[in-house]
Amino acid sequence: MAHEQSNAAVTALRGLLTEFRQRRIVTRSAERDGMTRHAGPLTASWDARFPGFPDEDFPYTSFRGEHRRGRRDAYLIDIIVRLLADRGSVATTIVNPACVFGRHACRLAARLPEARVIGTDIDPRWDRLYRMWRCGRLPANYRFVPDDVFRPRLGVQPTAVVFFGACGAVSDAAMDYAVDAGADYLMCRTCCHDNIGGNLAVTARSNQVNRFFRFKNWAYGRIRKAPKYAGFYFSSQYGHSAYPRSTAGRQFSSTEEFLAVARDSPDSDICRAIIDLDRYLCLVERGFRVEYQGELFVAERGR
Ligand SMILES: C[S@@+](CC[C@H](N)C(=O)[O-])C[C@H]1O[C@@H](n2cnc3c(N)ncnc32)[C@H](O)[C@@H]1O
Repeated sequence: MAHEQSNAAVTALRGLLTEFRQRRIVTRSAERDGMTRHAGPLTASWDARFPGFPDEDFPYTSFRGEHRRGRRDAYLIDIIVRLLADRGSVATTIVNPACVFGRHACRLAARLPEARVIGTDIDPRWDRLYRMWRCGRLPANYRFVPDDVFRPRLGVQPTAVVFFGACGAVSDAAMDYAVDAGADYLMCRTCCHDNIGGNLAVTARSNQVNRFFRFKNWAYGRIRKAPKYAGFYFSSQYGHSAYPRSTAGRQFSSTEEFLAVARDSPDSDICRAIIDLDRYLCLVERGFRVEYQGELFVAERGR
């Protein structure tokens, strides 16, 4: 099974790279045709296991697509609850790195009262704000711990690592944390693919999302320069040369090409999928069975 899947992912990655190299990206029809033609088998595998993917009739790169990413998060939470609910009395620990306010983690804690749920983030201010807003009434089985996912110090054995948007290399660090900490499951939504390898450059195009990403990267550029924000979003461990991450990705592409893909990713689902399929293959190479669709991953160790 894992072999078939990684073959399907390699074929999809090579196909999408061809679309990228021939600049068949960004336009609505090119994106739709390219994704259907090359990522179709992976989507079918996902749909067979996890029916009900919140299909949208617009690209994730559109303003509506970005705006409605919460629908994918709610759907992912249902899958997490389904996969972890029937563990019975076996202790379950869920770790949510880059949890921001901890809203998603609290929802999981409420739906899995037997589980221990830990939200972590390098910036504890969001947790404080959310706790105040909820008048301190958060699920008893939820706690927040300040932690830098590039140098995790949590010291627990997670059953599952989950996250709902973790910009650029923060996604990769959270994935590596799941692998290195011995998690059985990694279930997540990636975001801000443009920030892999410490990249802040975006191919300028006249649309709202593109402008928003350029503004975001202007702000991230200031954060990166400010000593008090050391470790926020960027790390030398995940510089240019850390990409592509998988052996297959390095075979069919290069660091330069992946940075070019990153620059176009605010406007291209094909480019985002190229970066995510490299992550998919990196997980398969480290012993996980992976399902992928629309920036969502469900990875299970040793299956
Ligand atoms: C802005 S959120 C991402 C939300 C996302 N855009 C989405 O699609 O929902 C990213 C979070 O990552 C956290 N973060 C940044 N660098 C981190 C690090 N090194 N370790 C842990 N959390 C980090 C930030 O504090 C922030 O709360």
